[in-house]
Amino acid sequence: MIRPPAILLLFVMFLILSTCMNVKGAPRKIQVTDFGKTKEGEAVSRYVLTNERGMEAVVINYGAALVSLKIPDRAGKAEDIVLGYDSLEGYELDKSYFGATIGRYGNRIAGGQFTLGRTVYQLPKNDGPNCLHGGTRGFNKRTWTAKDRSRADAEVLELNYTSQDGEEGFPGTLKVQVTYTLPLATNELRIEYSATTDKETVVNLTNHSYFNLTAAATHDILNHQLVLHALQFTPVDSTLIPTGELRAVGGDPFDFRKATAIGARIGQENEQLKFGHGYDHNWVLDRTADGSLRPAAEVFEPTSGRVLEVLTTEPGIQFYSGNFLDGTVRGKGGQLYAYRTGLCLETQHFPDSPNHANFPSTLLKPGQTYRSATVFRFSTRK
Ligand code: GLA
Repeated sequence: MIRPPAILLLFVMFLILSTCMNVKGAPRKIQVTDFGKTKEGEAVSRYVLTNERGMEAVVINYGAALVSLKIPDRAGKAEDIVLGYDSLEGYELDKSYFGATIGRYGNRIAGGQFTLGRTVYQLPKNDGPNCLHGGTRGFNKRTWTAKDRSRADAEVLELNYTSQDGEEGFPGTLKVQVTYTLPLATNELRIEYSATTDKETVVNLTNHSYFNLTAAATHDILNHQLVLHALQFTPVDSTLIPTGELRAVGGDPFDFRKATAIGARIGQENEQLKFGHGYDHNWVLDRTADGSLRPAAEVFEPTSGRVLEVLTTEPGIQFYSGNFLDGTVRGKGGQLYAYRTGLCLETQHFPDSPNHANFPSTLLKPGQTYRSATVFRFSTRK
């Protein structure tokens, strides 16, 4: 039998413990719901990450995709500012890469070909003559395993996928991890990537969210004001493969050093804009080589007041103005996504890097760990 002094002691210990727990707080828990089964029968879930500042991010483990992102406007009204679908089938049939994690190689590889050592690797040509976003069935079309890694100060979702040696033509078994972090106290979504391989390979991971800061994808994104922290961009040929040149921006439609409406110059007579059907180019970010997170882009939408800042460890960013959206894709709430109703800011290594010795390398060797981080930070302005 426990004597009274022992009970008292236990009670005091309980009080001390619970006070400590309150200071640090108990770990948060991500809300999980069912999102159906893939056509292969794999179960997919919807993970709802929330914070105390009115922000909510929803991720599914199919394609490790960000499917909804609710952000307060200047009046405090939280609304969804990313394009996507209501059902899993939407994501399975998707050709626009809405919200998805892109890999093994985000963006294009010329002729779908690259050489490592003496071996030539041939990837699927799923974009004219080139390989785009990892091939016919990239990481966006795979089911990932998810773990709740939340802490007291943030909700954290970890997603893992093992890409087999030879998958989509790439060498090496690649173990990939993507982590979405939503801090409790700040309105930002942090996406961290890591990967290891058992054979030399190339890796370039990114997220393909389409933002429309008005939260109404019936409006185009041409009035969004954009800043890109870049002095150069990589001009492309007619199939959107970089020529290898790093071209200085300045007095042309590619100069976003000062906030400029996306629509201000998009219609200008310009060979690069013609090739991209608008903006679909990689900018060379201003950075030191230390791999730290640095500002890459800023978008301001005047009617809602929403501001999106993009920070990344990556050397480049693909700004895509939604030129291939043509009003045939039916998205959330039955909405048809029309021409240029979403914009992408894909932080990345440059397109076709495996075929350009002057571009930062995308090579990953056994024993090395690929690491990359991007933050989407939100605020509002008058
Ligand atoms: C990237 C590419 C674009 C287009 C979209 C998806 O942004 O650069 O050309 O393929 O993905 O439609």
